[in-house]
Formats: sequence, structure tokens, C-alpha cells
Amino acid sequence: MNQPNVVVITGGSRGIGAATALECARRGLGVILTYHRQAEQASQVVRRIGDAGGKAAALMLEVGDTKSFAGFRGAVQDLLAGMWGADSIAGLVNNAGHGLFNPIETVSEAQFDALMNVHLKGPFFLTQSLLPLMMPGAAIVNLTSATTRVATPGVAPYAAFKGGLDVLTRYMAKEFGGRRIRANSVAPGAIRTELGGGLNEAFETLLAGQTALGRVGEPEDVARVIGMLLTGDGGWINAQSIEVAGGYAI
Ligand SMILES: NC(=O)c1ccc[n+]([C@@H]2O[C@H](COP(=O)([O-])OP(=O)(O)OC[C@H]3O[C@@H](n4cnc5c(N)ncnc54)[C@H](OP(=O)(O)O)[C@@H]3O)[C@@H](O)[C@H]2O)c1
Repeated sequence: MNQPNVVVITGGSRGIGAATALECARRGLGVILTYHRQAEQASQVVRRIGDAGGKAAALMLEVGDTKSFAGFRGAVQDLLAGMWGADSIAGLVNNAGHGLFNPIETVSEAQFDALMNVHLKGPFFLTQSLLPLMMPGAAIVNLTSATTRVATPGVAPYAAFKGGLDVLTRYMAKEFGGRRIRANSVAPGAIRTELGGGLNEAFETLLAGQTALGRVGEPEDVARVIGMLLTGDGGWINAQSIEVAGGYAI
């Protein structure tokens, strides 16, 4: 079967994930995006892709709930067959996540576990679960963070798990290379989204001042790089961490 190229993007209802869904559709990819709480926002992204002539669908997914992944894979397979007449995916973007600003001495075990589940354990087991659906030539993109390079006050557990995801990316590239599946991580700097409560004016001014190009990033700045990595344009890029941060804290 000549397969259409369909990618799965977690956390596609808002922010970087939504921009990535739109960018992928612009590049001619089919899109299955996931949402957690914002079903209506996810529907809006699906509608915008449809209005522009693309094809997309949204599924609910709690990335911290590994027990739901088998059912999620079944739902992806149903969508692939029903909407695209396909049985495989061309890419997976492990993007969904939440932030936390807390110094190490005040982080609770529950907060630590929640961050670990969403930023490290979830991407590990979701990738494992969807691996049988990945076609040769597929690409995995894991969203990490510039906070893995720059120790930023208040984000220690978040950054530590993103660092773990960065290491995991190289192991994915090594273990999946035989199937011609690539894996890279994208590490955004400060991007204008609702992560961790979003940016107020003072915080944005501070972050822009720490960025060589003098502004914070927009979700589209990151989405364009993810789109490149998912398609043939990035076909020889593998096992890399690409910081997309405008020169943050250099
Ligand atoms: N923004 C930045 O400055 C920045 C910097 C470095 C790295 N990143 C990383 O980039 C990725 C995207 O962040 P963003 O800034 O676009 O965030 P955002 O605007 O807050 O959007 C987060 C997305 O993740 C989903 N989500 C949150 N918790 C989830 C969970 N437990 N299970 C499933 N989905 C969940 C949300 O779904 P609902 O809307 O449906 O709830 C939403 O679609 C994250 O991995 C983040 O750590 C962001």
C-alpha cells in the first residue's frame, strides 16, 4: 500500500504543538493531534487545518497515564484506517507537557512524579507503544528545553527530566536506526505560550534581554524546525539536540 504520511503530535491543542500541527499540514502531512483538557481548542486546530485544505483529527490523551496507551494506539489505528486508508505513521512528536516554577527545597514528591510522568516516562512508553505503527523512514521529535543547558531558577525537576529525554533521544536513534527511524530532540528557549502560566510583560522583557536576537520566540519559530525534522528536509539529521532559542543565555 502506498501510505500517506500521517504524524502524531501530542499536546496539539495549544502553543508549540498547535503551531506544529499547522506547519505539518502546510507541508502536506496528515495530522493526528492530541489534547488533554482543551477539546475545543483542539477542534479549532483541526478546523483550521481542514479550512486550509489539509486533513487532521484530534484524540484525548493524558501523557502521564501509560495504562491508556494501548487504547490510544487502537484509536490511532482506527483513525489511520478510517481517514487515510493507512496503517502506519510517518512521525511522532512528543510535545505535550506542563511547567512548574518551584525551587528544589519546596518541590513535593507529587509534583516531581507528575513532571516525570509527563516529560520522561510518558514519551518513553508512548514511543514504545506507537513503534509498531512507524513506517521505515519515520521520524521522532522529542521536545526538550534550553533549561537542560542553562540552570534556570525554579525548574530543576522539569529540566532534569528534559535532560533525561534528551539522552533517551540518542538511544532511540541508535535502537531504531535499523528500521530507518530517526530521532532528534528540539530544545526551545523562551517561547510565547501558556506553559507555566505564560509570560507577563516583565518576564518577557527579562527573557528577551537574555536572548541574543532580543525577543522571545513564537511557537511558529519552533514548529518550522520540527516540520523540517519530520520530513525529507531533515532526512539526514539524526540523534541531535537542536536548540531553537534565538541565542538564549550565550
Ligand atoms: N514555551 C516554552 O517556553 C518552552 C520552552 C522549552 C520547552 N518547551 C516544551 O515545549 C512543549 C510544548 O510546550 P508549550 O509551551 O507549547 O505548552 P502549552 O502552550 O502550555 O501547551 C501544552 C500542551 O500540552 C498538553 N498537555 C499538558 N499536560 C498534558 C498531559 N498531562 N497529558 C497530555 N497533554 C498535556 C496541553 O493540552 P490541553 O491544552 O488540552 O490541556 C497542550 O496542548 C512542552 O514539552 C514544553 O516543556 C516549551
